[in-house]
Formats: sequence, structure tokens, C-alpha cells
Amino acid sequence: MQKTDVLIIGAGIAGLTTAIKLAERRKDLDITVFTKTIKQESNTKYAQGGVAAVWNHEIDSYDKHIGDTLDAGDGLCDPEVVSFVVKEGPERVQDIIDWGARFDKSIESNQYDLGREGGHSENRILHFKDITGWEIQRTLSDRVALLENIKIHEHYFAIDLITQHHLGQNITRLRDDIRCYGAYALNTKSGNIETFLSKVTVLATGGSGQVYRNTTNPVIATGDGIAMMYRAKGRIANMEFVQFHPTALYNPAGENPSFLISEAVRGFGAILRRVNGEQFMEGYDARKSLAPRDIVARAIDSEMKKSGEDFVYLDCTHLDREAFMEHFPNIYEKCKDVGINVFQDYIPVTPACHYICGGIKVDYKGRSSIKQLYACGECTSSGLHGANRLASNSLLEAMVYGHRIHANILEEIENYKIDNKIPEWDATGTTQPKELVLLTQSQRELKEIMSSYVGIVRSNVRLKRALDRLYLLYAETERLYQSSVISPQLCELRNLITIAYLISRSAAMRTESRGLHFTTDYTYKNNFIEETLM
Ligand code: FAD
Ligand code: SIN
Repeated sequence: MQKTDVLIIGAGIAGLTTAIKLAERRKDLDITVFTKTIKQESNTKYAQGGVAAVWNHEIDSYDKHIGDTLDAGDGLCDPEVVSFVVKEGPERVQDIIDWGARFDKSIESNQYDLGREGGHSENRILHFKDITGWEIQRTLSDRVALLENIKIHEHYFAIDLITQHHLGQNITRLRDDIRCYGAYALNTKSGNIETFLSKVTVLATGGSGQVYRNTTNPVIATGDGIAMMYRAKGRIANMEFVQFHPTALYNPAGENPSFLISEAVRGFGAILRRVNGEQFMEGYDARKSLAPRDIVARAIDSEMKKSGEDFVYLDCTHLDREAFMEHFPNIYEKCKDVGINVFQDYIPVTPACHYICGGIKVDYKGRSSIKQLYACGECTSSGLHGANRLASNSLLEAMVYGHRIHANILEEIENYKIDNKIPEWDATGTTQPKELVLLTQSQRELKEIMSSYVGIVRSNVRLKRALDRLYLLYAETERLYQSSVISPQLCELRNLITIAYLISRSAAMRTESRGLHFTTDYTYKNNFIEETLM
């Protein structure tokens, strides 16, 4: 049994920002951070386009960034959250610059070279080439290494949050006094399940993209934090809003994750074309290739259905070579590796699951519905994104909430004690599963269900079919879980099934089309529903 003041589950931008801020302000606090594999692997590492922030007040303003965020969110953003995230954003970006992050500057002016992405009315994206996330993850990891009171535990897979349930009490979703005392974690190197007791815990477990067949998210993105929260009977919101990025590189051989062709490439002037070379976006939105993501992804989906092909094209052939190479060296190299010369060939692209806008419901201070438990980053539903996230607002959200959470923990931590009565994990009666291949097959089946029935376009019949099939997978997997020695594969499958259920169930509850949730059974904004809370 291990004890720590603060347990942070996740070492991407959300978890590490919170950890660094706490460690710098309170050297006496002992901070433990888990990452389920190695510390460099996260959604954060793959971010390409950059961080949105109002930087140049001569051309941009908070009101414009707020307006763009609300417009993309399609009526479901919390305006108060949008306002403070946008206004606090530049200061938080400055924090990470002070910690050593590099963002590209224009050679002529020595000012930050601000990029543009879909749904933004001004250039406001700070970036480092097309590998902004890599630079951010590097900066945060370097900073953590300087702080002695942060202990990073690599290969620690959090299995479940510890609550009064583990003290034998009956916990229901109606209770408003659930507390979190820490978490059980599988040390994937030793195979042991260890108990970590904490005064406060922060979930920063990132995304859930692996619930679909095609996703830009790395294989670690299995929605573990949201699933743990649901099992602990905490509140989850808005899970139907799954963002499909319009332009993942189409690879007929299949690739997991799918490689992203950043929206910044369209911001740079690239044009979407049908397989016969015609442009098509003007038929869908006046902003053409730079309309918000939900609109562009639906347009591409519709064009693919009409042509019967699995892709459309992105045309970069007219763009300035030197400037393209300067801005997008990684994209250029990847395309070259698969035989595409971006200056001569059109790039085949297809939508891929990219971001989950819903998640653990948090208040303005990052507190979840469970006491002593905070949540930060992609695993949350904060109210910033509403029904559709504006490009490059995710890294920003994680930094702003990481800051707010650290401030609230510093105010509250003295009120909490570590509970010493928590029992160790009980694994009696479990045996090694005989056929691990069954887990792989179930995961494949799950992805097929979600991709076929709960994708960009939905209907009541498809959602019912998905829920019926998910129930079978759920029942089978629960039986296996009760009798098996725990493994990361089994936990991930179980978590993905929960995520799939939450997405499908929330989608079935929303009797309208809005933002990223589009259904053939209901018209656009038919019936205003604030949130789908589960
Ligand atoms: P992550 O960075 O995913 O970190 C999650 C952490 O949790 C990891 O350390 C993981 O090991 C750990 N973890 C998960 N489960 C467990 C468990 N059970 N036990 C222990 N540890 C666990 N957003 C932007 O704003 N701008 C962009 O340009 C941009 N580009 C993107 C490009 C790609 C290809 C992708 C995939 C996403 C992009 N996004 C972008 C989205 C953004 O990168 C993510 O939303 C953000 O980085 C999430 O940060 P996070 O800290 O919440 O989670
Ligand atoms: C991109 O670079 O297109 C991704 C940006 C984002 O997801 O915010």
C-alpha cells in the first residue's frame, strides 16, 4: 500500500501541467503520476496544428475567439467557461513558453507565426512546425525531471478508483457524498496490483479514439478514466459528441493510428476535391474547406457515399514548396514514405475518429461529482466544447484547467486525510485466461459495431442495433473479467465497451441533430436539450 498527497492518473498535457504547478508551489507535497506505458506516449505527443490563443490584439480579440468557439459548439457550450478559457489562455501559453516550449516565429518580424484552422475567424494558432504536441510533451517531461517531489510511475495502469464501495457501502448514482481515496493500479511490469491512497486524485487519462476502427488517437486512447468514473458512479456528460477529423491519410493497408493531415494544411490553402478532381465544399458551407470540422467531415462522408470510394482528395499541388516544407516537414515525409509527392499528387484523405467532446463532468474549478476527485483534459466535459470542439482548443483547455485545478487543490488539500482502512485488491478465484485472442477479436468486433452504426451519420435503428450487440459483448467480457487474472488488454476492452455504451446511449437520448451528432431521424436542433448526463 502506497501513500501520496496527490495522485495524478495521466502524463499528457493535462496531468503534467497540474503536477508541475503543484510541485513548484508546494515543495512539501508528494505528487505521484501514472502513465500506462512510457511517459512520452499520449495524445498530446501527436498534436500537430497547435494551441489557439489570442496573441496579436491588433488583428484578434477575445470576443472573436469566444464567438468562434461558441459557433463551433452549436449552442451547447457553457459561455462562462468559454470566456475564462479564452481570456486565461494567453497567460497559460506563456507559462509553457517560460518552461522552454518553442513556437515558430516569422523570420521577418520575429513575432509568433500564427496559423489558421477550421472555424477560426483569425490566425491565432501557435505551433512548432507540424509537431507541436511533441514539443509540448518534451517541454513538460523536461520540467518534471527538475522537480524532486513528482514521481512518475511508468507502466502503471489504473484499474479502478477507490471509493466507499471498497469499504462495503452501497453506492448509487444518486448519492452526492461519494469520495475518492485513491486508485488500484496494475504494475504491468511485475503483474501485481498495487493500492495507492491519496488525499486528492486527478483523472487526466485523455481520449477514447480506439473505440472506432479508424482513429488518429494512439493505441493507449481507450477511455480508461471515463470508464473508471462511470463504474465509480460519477457523472458523465455529452458523450454523443465524437469528433471525426475530416482529413486522416487514407491508407488502404490500414494503420493504427491513422496518420493525421493537419487542418493547418487547409488553413495554409489546401483544397478538398472529389475523386474526379472537382472541388465540392462550396456546396456545403461558405467557409469551404475551412468550415468547422463537423460540417467538413459530414460533407466528405456524403461525397464518399456518392462516389463509392473510401476517400476524397486534398490538393496541395499549388502551394509554395519552400513554405510548405518549412511548416509541415513531418507530413511531407510521411506522404513521401507512402509514395505520395504532395507537390505533384493529390493526398487521399478520409475522416477518422479524433476527439471525444464529452466525458467526466467538471465544474469551473475542475472538480468532478465525486469528492476529492478532479478531472482535466480530454477525459472531461467542462462546457468549453459543447457539441463540437473548435480546432486547437484542446491543448488550451488542458492548460487552463490544469492551472485552475492546482489552485483549488492548494486551497482544499489540508481538509483531506488519507484513509487507512482501505483493503488491498482481492484477486482470489481468478485464473489466467486461456485464449487471449478472444480479447483481440472482441475489440475488433466492438470497433466494427461503432464504425458501422454510431459513426458520422446515425439513426434510431442503427443505434438500437449497436446497443443490442454491445450488450452481448458486455455480458461476455464481464464474465471473463470476474474469473480472470487482470491484464491491460482485458481492462482496455472492458473500458472501451463502457465508452461505446455511453456514446451510443447518449446518442439515442438526443432527439435532434446538433453539432457532431447527426441523425437521419431528427431535424437539426429539433428539441433543445442542455446535456445528456449519465
Ligand atoms: P493525453 O495526452 O492523451 O494523456 C493521457 C495520459 O493518461 C497518458 O499518459 C496515458 O498513459 C495516461 N493513461 C490513460 N489511461 C490510463 C490508465 N488506465 N492508467 C494510467 N495512465 C493512463 N489538440 C489541439 O488543441 N491542437 C492540436 O493541434 C491537436 N492535434 C491533434 C492531433 C492528433 C493526431 C491527435 C490524436 C489529437 C490532437 N489534438 C489536438 C487533441 C489533443 O492532442 C488532446 O486532446 C490532448 O493532448 C489530450 O491531453 P490529455 O493530457 O488530456 O491526454
Ligand atoms: C490538426 O492539426 O488538424 C488537429 C488540431 C486539433 O485537433 O485541434
